[in-house]
Amino acid sequence: MNQTQRTVDPCVMVIFGATGDLTKRKLFPALYNLAKDGFLPESLAIIGVGRQEMETKDFRQKIIADLKEFVGDSPDKKLLAWFEERIFYTGGDFDDDKKLFKDLKDLLAEVCQNLNIPENYFYYLATPPQLFANVAGKIHKNGLGRDENDNWRRFIFEKPFGRDIESAKKLNHELAKILKEKQIYRIDHYLGKETVQNLLIFRFGNSIFEPIWNRNFIDHVQITVAEELGVETRGGYYDTAGALRDMIPNHIFQLITLTAMEPPVSFEADAVRDEQAKILQAMQPFAPEDVLHNAVRGQYGAGEMKDEKVSAYRSEQAVAPKTNTETYAALKLSIDNWRWADVPFYIRTGKRLPTKRTDITIQFKKAPFMLFRDTTIEKLTTNRLVIHVQPDEGITLHFGAKIPGPIVNMGEVDMDFNYVDHFGEQISTGYERLLYDCMTGDATLFQRADMVEASWQIVSPILDVWQAIPARDFPNYESGSWGPTEADELLKNDGRKWKNTVD
Ligand code: BG6
Repeated sequence: MNQTQRTVDPCVMVIFGATGDLTKRKLFPALYNLAKDGFLPESLAIIGVGRQEMETKDFRQKIIADLKEFVGDSPDKKLLAWFEERIFYTGGDFDDDKKLFKDLKDLLAEVCQNLNIPENYFYYLATPPQLFANVAGKIHKNGLGRDENDNWRRFIFEKPFGRDIESAKKLNHELAKILKEKQIYRIDHYLGKETVQNLLIFRFGNSIFEPIWNRNFIDHVQITVAEELGVETRGGYYDTAGALRDMIPNHIFQLITLTAMEPPVSFEADAVRDEQAKILQAMQPFAPEDVLHNAVRGQYGAGEMKDEKVSAYRSEQAVAPKTNTETYAALKLSIDNWRWADVPFYIRTGKRLPTKRTDITIQFKKAPFMLFRDTTIEKLTTNRLVIHVQPDEGITLHFGAKIPGPIVNMGEVDMDFNYVDHFGEQISTGYERLLYDCMTGDATLFQRADMVEASWQIVSPILDVWQAIPARDFPNYESGSWGPTEADELLKNDGRKWKNTVD
């Protein structure tokens, strides 16, 4: 992990899928923010590659207009001009290695020569995953994929990386035939979020938490990734994926591994990732009967959100009218290792829930009651630590305090740390850090092949059971509610409850 500001080598970024949403909403704004803060080299070029034929001048115009829309108020004119002169475009059929990849090769040579950039390239594949191996293969075949003459070549692959264990293994295998693992950057944008990175600092940079961060003190862990929005315009993709595939083996497992891992021996990429991988290996894959007890799926029906009627998932654009795809998933997971034995990790994610909120709740065990038996206190407050990943990034410690007065009584209070109060507003897309790390060759915050496979290994049995036994009760939660009642029962059966309020 970059511990000090490192210099980015002069390089060319090549974006496949350059006319898509990710490029305009995230990638260019992230590059802009990096440039504004002085993190980009003067010798940099960005080549957009798309299916559409377009002149470089038109692409430049489009990107500058998009930047004006997505980087907030009054973008710096000088910076926009700086970008404009280093953006290029080439278009064509991704299957045609004779034309498109030859054009790309010529353009790269020309750009490097004109802007005096050594041939360091990094490719961002913001394409559908079916094209990953194909595009990487064609880049390689045209002599543009191998590290050579001290020049590096790196590849960032967007999620989803596979759709089950078999497809992930196949993709890893195909990429391994042409690339070295150290050239491959499997991106997960949750690792670009400040609070997620702060988990490492919070846990290992402070001495008071680590001694209690284990089964002796922690009752259970809850992770909620709630979204208010429905599937919007992404029905075509989402209906083939579902909530579990879309959010759990990637984003939520990242949150689990950082919460649960042992201290790494250093911040080197493999030291951190080895510890994350051990957590994934210790997570127990579900047997088919476990799926019935420890996994819950849901699909939103129509409802009302913020006084507006919203439609059911089955009526969304590009979604099959009788679809069985889940828009909500909750799991009870166990990590079978010395630190976490018997500490359940309850996780849930869903669309059309009452609020957009991601947090990790560490619920500590109750204090013994004896001392309070003759007081008016009937129940002791349990301590919990809530890591707010988004929005309002911060950390809250929840504990009990004496209510002032002559009798012994107890109230619940919070101690809050809020990022914005201490560090001010950070304007970030979440991609800045990840792009910068790739440019400096730091893969700590990217997933390794074994991690991706271990994650699919855990969720694939659930997907298999859900596919074999279609849900009979869909839609089973109203838009604007906290999901299906079975998800409440998942915790209730263990005498626990989801934390449904922002606390
Ligand atoms: C994406 C999923 O990876 O993450 C989306 O495909 C989801 O379905 C999004 O909405 C959530 O990201 P964030 O950063 O808004 O929590």
